[in-house]
Amino acid sequence: MLEGLSTAELVAKGQAVVMNTYGRLPLALVRGEGSWVWDVEGTRYLDFVTGLAVNSLGYGHPAIVQAIQKQAKEILHTSNLYWIPNQIALAERLAESSFASKVFFCNSGAEANEAAIKLARKYAKKKYGEDKFEIISLKNSFHGRTLATLTATGQTKYQQGFAPLPEGFSYVEINNLGELKERVNEKTAALLIEPIQGEGGVFPASEEFLRAARELCDQYGALLIFDEVQVGLGRTGKLFAHEWSGVAPDIMTLAKALGGGVPIGAMLAGEEAAAAFQPGDHASTFGGNPLATAVGCAVLDVMRQPGFLEDVRERALYFRQGLEHLAEKYKTGESVRGQGFILGWPLPKLGGEVVQLCRERGLLVNCIGGKTLRFLPPLTVSKEEIDQALGILDRVLSENWK
Ligand SMILES: Cc1ncc(COP(=O)(O)O)c(C=O)c1O
Repeated sequence: MLEGLSTAELVAKGQAVVMNTYGRLPLALVRGEGSWVWDVEGTRYLDFVTGLAVNSLGYGHPAIVQAIQKQAKEILHTSNLYWIPNQIALAERLAESSFASKVFFCNSGAEANEAAIKLARKYAKKKYGEDKFEIISLKNSFHGRTLATLTATGQTKYQQGFAPLPEGFSYVEINNLGELKERVNEKTAALLIEPIQGEGGVFPASEEFLRAARELCDQYGALLIFDEVQVGLGRTGKLFAHEWSGVAPDIMTLAKALGGGVPIGAMLAGEEAAAAFQPGDHASTFGGNPLATAVGCAVLDVMRQPGFLEDVRERALYFRQGLEHLAEKYKTGESVRGQGFILGWPLPKLGGEVVQLCRERGLLVNCIGGKTLRFLPPLTVSKEEIDQALGILDRVLSENWK
């Protein structure tokens, strides 16, 4: 579609008809293969953004292509008024692989968090009474853009202009145990935490903080919700990021990588919490449709193959060591943060400029808050490709870091 147009022509057309909600780069990607993408002019880039942690198995993964082709010939959509075999199969896989026993399917991360907030409130009110509805999340967090999830998002810049916001949300600083203990009480319905803050700049929650969150939830009858929309599904080198801490939540949200590029979200819960939802309490027309859940099964089947995650951990460590070497070589200051293939490297002197400098040399990266480079390569990226990315970063820094 719109074949033959240059990037500049597409930008001009897009600005005329697409609503202005993104600060977009002048780049239009039209093809991908493995860890690589091509723009409309045929320029090739090594992709360390992966659609913001969506294309975790890279582009054109045969298991995903096959699942889509097969499903397209069978049936794309049926209503949740009926049973959907692929949905049941994906729920079974997710339950087998996690603390959870029940799954609700939707279409995005925000929707999964919206569902989690609703479930937590319903559960709290049913079990303890009307006054238990407060949701505590973290400052600098990101949970989505619906009214409830942007209210849970602990960054005022996302909330400005949208008041009045839903009631009953408050925030504590990540890894501040004192503040957490002060804030949680009988009115708390849930604590909502990203095990690693992604959009906030790649800040991991400490094991101690997650453990304290678990204990406080148990003490006050609140539910612990982990938002693993960005860090779940192999991104950290474990299937779920919270596995590193050994702390299990009551509810977990997933999206992004679950569909390998096909929109899907999921909200997982244990039996008791899940039972708070009855027919009519929550729903989604497209949620868990045959296509999205067929792809979800294909993605999980790849990620659960023996050795897949060990291999991710090994290559991720190789990449991290390469970044740490560069950080030392150029004395860039603050250390590299994150786990597995979600890494943040603060480069305050270059800021957002580094994104353009890398792109000119054939590497796509993302910068958060004008300061921290965030790397989200495909989990399938090879060591040779990691070397190529490190080589480009080395060149960018050698020419621009003073
Ligand atoms: C941790 C986290 N939660 C929720 C969301 C929202 O997901 P979506 O954009 O699919 O609504 C994001 C998106 O970046 C995210 O990183």
